[in-house]
Amino acid sequence: MGRDIRLRGEVSAAYQMGEISLKKIKRYKKITVIIGGILAGSTVICGCGGREDAKKSIKIGISVYDQYDTFVSEMMKDFNDYATKKEEETGISINIDTYNAAASQSTQNSQVENMVTEGCDVLCVNLVDRTDPTAIIDLAEKNDIPVIFFNRELVEEDLERWSRLYYVGAQAFESGIIQGELAAAAFLTDDSFDKNGDGIFQYVVLEGEAGHQDAIVRTEYSVSTMIDSGVEVEKLGYAIANRAQAQTKMAQLMSQFGDSIELVIANNDDMALGAIDALKASDFTKDEWPAVIGIDGTDVGLEAVKNKEMIGTVYNDKEGQASAMLNLAYGLSTGGDLSDLDLIDGKYIRLPYARVTYDDVDLYMEGDTE
Ligand code: BGC
Repeated sequence: MGRDIRLRGEVSAAYQMGEISLKKIKRYKKITVIIGGILAGSTVICGCGGREDAKKSIKIGISVYDQYDTFVSEMMKDFNDYATKKEEETGISINIDTYNAAASQSTQNSQVENMVTEGCDVLCVNLVDRTDPTAIIDLAEKNDIPVIFFNRELVEEDLERWSRLYYVGAQAFESGIIQGELAAAAFLTDDSFDKNGDGIFQYVVLEGEAGHQDAIVRTEYSVSTMIDSGVEVEKLGYAIANRAQAQTKMAQLMSQFGDSIELVIANNDDMALGAIDALKASDFTKDEWPAVIGIDGTDVGLEAVKNKEMIGTVYNDKEGQASAMLNLAYGLSTGGDLSDLDLIDGKYIRLPYARVTYDDVDLYMEGDTE
């Protein structure tokens, strides 16, 4: 048997109930095909992993909070690519079961129960509700299976509850600082961004999921960095959105503030792209657009920087996070040495963010997952 990678969502049921669009079904199929490709290409060493034969075969259970999240799904593709490479390097078969929690914490808790029953050596959990990891931690501890939480950071007290809990992600404030620096540099070096010539950068914010550690912190640091860099700013408005809502919310902000908007700060590229959709649908010519800055450097986000639709983005190192998580999962499953992994306080791996502009976007596009 080769690598056992399964994506489990209630896709067809949800589709029949009209809860998800045909477009999403197509994306689901795309993910499945990608994973199918990995399956076909993987080295076959032995059967399904169990903890007894962990040396020849390991089994990793993953639950993502929402398989349609652009950043998370790109990170998962990288994770699978790194797992394939690791198999080739080590000759150990890596079986991966990936579950979609579809934004339900109770679904995710049941998925984790399943992973335990199926003998996973390690659990990788992208929490739906980062304040509610108790059931998962208790179950893992009871069965002595380590957990790597990723991307959605739980509070430190929860991570401290057991020695075999880890977190892989990034420091949200760093991305806010870099975004603020990008905005400040644009304003201070190019007069055309000050559309009304008043010396003040009028901005709107598109803010992510309330309660996500990244959302509030990114906005706060982005704005304070502009101010610290000597830019006078004025907040016109804000909206909480996701990719699907961002275009409508941006259109509303535009109908309220018209061409007074000089800058759009988006908490991620998906929302920045929603804003760009609204700008494209408006009467503004591209020269009249406000500066738009995202965070993530997703494939589509990088393309928007390359097309000069976004003046920049902040790279959220999905390859680095995927590789770190794979190496940690591998080390924990095989009882290997974790000392090369740069664990902070024995528990955290955090990858740095990086600034991306038109001048260096090609590097990121080339370095992006092959
Ligand atoms: C990313 C977002 C993503 C979120 C999911 C963040 O780190 O920047 O794009 O939606 O994680 O948890």
